[in-house]
Amino acid sequence: MGQEPDYEYTWVRDTSLTFEVVKSLYAAASKKPARSFYEGLIFAYSDVRAHEQIEPGLQTGLGEPKFYLNNTIFTGPWGRPQNDGPATSAITLIEFANAYLANGGSVDTVRNKIYDSNANPASAPVMKDLLFVASNWTYPSFGIWEEVEADHFYDRLVQRKALVLGAAFAKKMGDSATASTLSSQISAITASLDDFWDPNRKIIVYEYGPVYRGKTSYLDSAVLLGIQHGYADDGVYAPTNERVLSTAVRLATSFIDVYPIANTTQDAAGRTLGIPVGRYPEDTYNGVATTGLGNPWYLTTATMAQLMYTLACDFSGAGSLPVTSVSESFWSYFAPGANLKAGKTYGSKDAAFKTAIAALQGWGDAFMRTVMYYTPTDGHLSEEFDRATGAPMGAADLTWSYASLLTAAMARAEAMGNKGKNFDMQVANLGPA
Ligand code: NOJ
Repeated sequence: MGQEPDYEYTWVRDTSLTFEVVKSLYAAASKKPARSFYEGLIFAYSDVRAHEQIEPGLQTGLGEPKFYLNNTIFTGPWGRPQNDGPATSAITLIEFANAYLANGGSVDTVRNKIYDSNANPASAPVMKDLLFVASNWTYPSFGIWEEVEADHFYDRLVQRKALVLGAAFAKKMGDSATASTLSSQISAITASLDDFWDPNRKIIVYEYGPVYRGKTSYLDSAVLLGIQHGYADDGVYAPTNERVLSTAVRLATSFIDVYPIANTTQDAAGRTLGIPVGRYPEDTYNGVATTGLGNPWYLTTATMAQLMYTLACDFSGAGSLPVTSVSESFWSYFAPGANLKAGKTYGSKDAAFKTAIAALQGWGDAFMRTVMYYTPTDGHLSEEFDRATGAPMGAADLTWSYASLLTAAMARAEAMGNKGKNFDMQVANLGPA
């Protein structure tokens, strides 16, 4: 028996999100050795995903959620299927392939090692994952927390992004038949997203249907993670969407009364800390068992930080900040000094606009500081931190925790205008340690 909790596996989701970071490092690196290093890692990842797809004994097809570290299938009882995995894996590999081609990489290599599952089933997983998404997105699946089988907002959004990117990518690969199969699903999946909006609660619910596991708030960080991993850059459920803002303020504040450490609002130097954020307020998983009290997680707190930075960046870029009756509560909580009012649109020359952007940057830093404050001095990030003491809890060195901190740091650099240096490039050029 290994260490508790038993986490010595590779989850399709965690791996794809981690390789999304490697993809960003690949795209940002300007030095050849670093770039080749990341490139090698991602081609190896593509190979691993292809092998997962052809493992004998997949119980629920490509939605099989976890494997042993030697890539053989985990056959014990588990929440299956988890149909977000094929989508996030395809997204990561398509984004990498596009960056690789833009760097002068060969189309044939991409076809053989990434895209064409018909010709190369043991090395190219993307076509197969995309077709799986196109024909399975309407089916219920276990959500990212592996607890509830339902129709999940997170899944729908990442599946949509996979189809949007996938249709364009298939065309690029000269495969118009697959491109049209993927495209044919996009408008239906887009229309289905609005089913998750609850106008009375003013939140995007994480799933629709009966209340499971006492989740009466219907609030869940999975919604914000969905926006982060599933926004296809085409205006559909953008981070700046009024519904996203309304959901974010309700979600973040829902943890204030739940976690005693939320009462610590400053670090030792008197700087503001953000709210510790967990999966959902009713969570009972304490990192080892589901019979305890849930805790804040590093990755969900980092996601709040990332959302704040992304908003600062996107509203500044647009030069316009419209406030509606749906988004007003977000602004009055997170930017009270700007005194923004529903029905008004603020422009980049308005003092209130500048105050609001500075508030977003400030909250981004406050949430990052919370992650830092509860990181032990050795710098290791586990899965969660204790709701009452702040001590690390659950799986040690959870890869996804590190990945989420890196993506938040990249969003920060962008929101702060990189201050004359390209942060992503500097980090990427460090290459292998
Ligand atoms: C449990 C989390 O709820 C799930 O999202 C994650 O994939 C696994 N742990 C592995 O980190």
